[in-house]
Amino acid sequence: MQKTRAAITGIHGYVPEYVLTNAELEKMVDTTDEWITSRTGVKERRILKGIGLGTSDMGKEAVLGLLKKTNTNPLEIDLIICATTTPDMQFPATANIIADKCGLKNSFGFDINAACSGFIYALRTASQFIEAGSAKKVIVVGGDKMSSIIDYSDRQTCVIFGDGAGAVLLEKNNDGLGIIDAVLGSDGAGRVHLHQKAGGSAMPASAETVEKKLHYVYQEGQAVFKFAVTKMADAAEEIMKRNNLHSDDVAWLIPHQANKRIIDATAKRMGLDDAKVMINIDRYGNTTNGTIPLCMWEWEKKMHKGDNIVLAAFGGGFTWGAVYMKWAYDSKQ
Ligand code: UT7
Repeated sequence: MQKTRAAITGIHGYVPEYVLTNAELEKMVDTTDEWITSRTGVKERRILKGIGLGTSDMGKEAVLGLLKKTNTNPLEIDLIICATTTPDMQFPATANIIADKCGLKNSFGFDINAACSGFIYALRTASQFIEAGSAKKVIVVGGDKMSSIIDYSDRQTCVIFGDGAGAVLLEKNNDGLGIIDAVLGSDGAGRVHLHQKAGGSAMPASAETVEKKLHYVYQEGQAVFKFAVTKMADAAEEIMKRNNLHSDDVAWLIPHQANKRIIDATAKRMGLDDAKVMINIDRYGNTTNGTIPLCMWEWEKKMHKGDNIVLAAFGGGFTWGAVYMKWAYDSKQ
C-alpha cells in the first residue's frame, strides 16, 4: 500500500444562464470585440441575475450535482471548503451557507480567500486533512459572483470577469493517485495593484465609499499582467522540475483563466502543445475561483486514470501556485 493521498473522485460545475457577449459590452463601454478577443481571449461570460442570489447559490448547484453524480450521502461529508473572493456576506463563511443549503449536516466548513489562486490553496488545504486522517470525504468549492464587484462602466475590468462555480469531492487514495505536490506562494506587497478598496475593516462601507465607487475591483492591468505571466509559469515549471516531469509526461495543464496570453506563456514554458491545455476563457471569462474547477468539469471525460495533471494559478494578493496530481478515475457520465 502506498502513502495516503487525497484524490478527486468527482466534479461538477454550474454557470448561470445569462450570457453577456462582447457585442453587448460594446454598447455599454468604449470597447470592441476585436480588442477584447485579441487582448484577453474572452468572447462571452455568464452573469448571475436575480435579487438575493450570491456565490452560495452557484456553489449549491455545483455541490448538489456533485453529490448526485457521485452517489454520495450529504451526511457523509466531513468538511467543506469554499474558495471565494465574493462571499455572500462578510460573515458567516459561504462554505457554511452552502453546507446548509445542501444538507451537509455533519461537516464543518470555512472559506479561503486567496483571490484567483484560491481553488489551488483550498485543494492543498483539503488534501492535508485527508492525508492526516482527520477527514474522509471533503468537498472543495471554487466560485465567484464577480459581477457583484465589477464596475460595468470600467472597460479595463468589466470585459474580463464572469460568474460561475465548480465543486470537487476528495477522498483518500492508497494507489499512488491523487494530489502529489503543491507549490504555493504569496507576496502582500502586490496588493497595491489589485484590490477592493472599501468594505473591509480598514474602510467600512459608507455613503461616500459607494459614491466614489470603492467597492469595485481596482486593477492595474499591466502591472498585474507582468507578475502573472512570470509567477504562474515559474510555479508550473518548479512543480515539473521537483517531480521530474517532462512535457511528454504531462497529459493536461489546467490553468487559471485570467488572460489567454498568460495561459499561452505558461504552456510554452512547460513545453506543452495547445491540445494539452484546457481553455474555456472564451466562454466564461475570468470566474476567479471558479476557473479551474469549471475546466475540470468540462474536460472530465477526457481525463483518464493515471494522467499527470498540472494546475496553475495567479491572483490578487499577490498569490500564485501549482498543483501536481495523478487523475484517479475514468468518468462514466
Ligand atoms: O485573475 C488574476 C489577476 N488578473 C490578471 O491576471 C489580469 C492581468 N492583466 C491583463 O490581463 C491585461 O493587462 C488587461 C486585459 C487587463 C489589459 O490588457 P493590456 O494589453 O495590458 O492593455 P493596457 O492596460 O496596456 O491598455 C492598452 C490600451 C490603453 O489605451 P492607450 O492608453 O494605449 O490609448 C487602454 O486604455 O487599451 C485600452 N483599453 C481598452 N481598449 C478597448 C483598456 N481596456 C480596453 C477595452 N477596450 N476593454
